[in-house]
Amino acid sequence: MKETGGKAISTATANACQTILAGFPQWAEPWSRLGLWVSLWDEHIELIEHTGPAGAFWKALIHHSDRFRNRLCQIARQSQQGAPVVCDLDPLGGMQVIATPIKLRNRAAGCLLACGLSDAFFDEETFARFCDTYRIDRAVFARIAATLPRHHQHQLEAYASIMVHHAGAFNAAELAQGEINDLSSQLARSYEELNLLYRVSAGMSVYKKPAYHLEQLCEELLSITAVKGFAVVLEPPRYLATKPSVVRVGSVDATPEDIVRLYQQVRDRTPNAGQAVVVDRTHGDPAFAWAASWLKQFAFYPLAKNEQVFGGILALNHSDDSQFDSYEIQFVAALAERSTAFIENVQLYDDLEHLFTGLLHALVSSIDAKDPYTCGHSQRVAWLGRNIATLAGLPEAKCQRVYLSGLMHDVGKIGIAESVLCKTGRLTQDEFTEMKRHPEIGAHILKGVPQVADIIPGIRHHHERMDGKGYPAGLAGNEIPLLGRIIGLADCYDAMTTNRTYRKARPVQMAVAEIRRCSGTQLDPELAHLFLAQDVQAVHRELTEFGNQSTNPQLEINIGASLGHTI
Ligand SMILES: [Fe+2]
Repeated sequence: MKETGGKAISTATANACQTILAGFPQWAEPWSRLGLWVSLWDEHIELIEHTGPAGAFWKALIHHSDRFRNRLCQIARQSQQGAPVVCDLDPLGGMQVIATPIKLRNRAAGCLLACGLSDAFFDEETFARFCDTYRIDRAVFARIAATLPRHHQHQLEAYASIMVHHAGAFNAAELAQGEINDLSSQLARSYEELNLLYRVSAGMSVYKKPAYHLEQLCEELLSITAVKGFAVVLEPPRYLATKPSVVRVGSVDATPEDIVRLYQQVRDRTPNAGQAVVVDRTHGDPAFAWAASWLKQFAFYPLAKNEQVFGGILALNHSDDSQFDSYEIQFVAALAERSTAFIENVQLYDDLEHLFTGLLHALVSSIDAKDPYTCGHSQRVAWLGRNIATLAGLPEAKCQRVYLSGLMHDVGKIGIAESVLCKTGRLTQDEFTEMKRHPEIGAHILKGVPQVADIIPGIRHHHERMDGKGYPAGLAGNEIPLLGRIIGLADCYDAMTTNRTYRKARPVQMAVAEIRRCSGTQLDPELAHLFLAQDVQAVHRELTEFGNQSTNPQLEINIGASLGHTI
């Protein structure tokens, strides 16, 4: 397992060497035609490319004679000191060597080496001594040497002089081209990175769920890298006993459970938050044997807050099974760092939402605790209110606010004496007057909470009547806020169809008839019409089922996404 700080290594050297290698055949071609053997050596004095009519001869010499090879490398290494070297291979004469250094930012990066044979080499005595000196088979090399081009010594000296200049110009031109290519690719990557960060940043909004944002992020990464798949794992807050959430994009055949297992395995080994972990080959590593069917290599970048890892981005498998590029890791790191702050904000927002929801449930539960006979009434009115709001064509966000208003509509009953609230039998006039205070008390309780200011009309006005004979304000018709009319209808239906202290629950058909009868006088006729036009029996069954579940303290209210909306 190797770790990287996420910084890309410079690719300038690799680019320049690639450019020189690509330009070598063209540069070498005229020298080859003149009968010289021309070769390109890297900075470690390893032969990487050669050309010329006598290639077989020179390669055989290098291969068969360590002494010859060492001598050639010695000359090449000497040129690495910075200046061209033109010399005979050894005192025997007849073998001219021209070595010119390749420099990259004042650093030796290899050399161009040319060899040619003069007439002297073919002198029988010289050749014999050459073969003896370099311990090569005289008969075999005599046959090969007979086919080699021969030069006059003064020709080789002239070639050497021209070649030194030619090699210098080649080095400068290819180096410049390498620099341009390098700059160009750096610019392209910087542009890609900036563009990617801009696109991802533009999509960040606390109103969007992190999963949506992370999916977009993975899609973006997939589009600009050669990685086969991306996955993001987010651990839930400690107070929620839920599983980590997983987002997957791409063509990696892993289940969410596989992804979480890999995440946990790597997270536990990650030495530092903010440091990428790259595993270029998982095959053969017992630690990843369980994932052998789908995992070949991966990179992991943790998402962390205050050095505490709470998730991570996984790049899974490379398209050609090659290693991840440094710039791919850099992209992942940049997006992870940018996303961390966003996810942190969303989680803070979720924390607030959970706190708020918990407080509302505590309030509603406190009413139920006072008056067990109406237990679940608030939740059912909330559910029915949302049903009616949906029928009325209100947007989803506003329907959620209706739900919240229904949930809180009787919160003012906290301020009503238990002797009145829990009385079995009919209320006296004074008791009824006391009971009628609950909408105002509820509105008063919530007026200090700006986040729920928009739902207060549903609380204050759910006992108004269309004919103006309701309370507390005696509003009539459309003077009554829509929220109040919706909650009023929902409240009436649930009150009729559930047991009360003073009477038994009425059948659905009777409640339907009563709503029809009160339409226009007590209830909004349009809302009543919409409500009765649906299959009320089916709705009632759903409501009953919901009511049975609503005693569950984990009841979920999706209010966070619409905080701030008004109705
Ligand atoms: Fe009420």
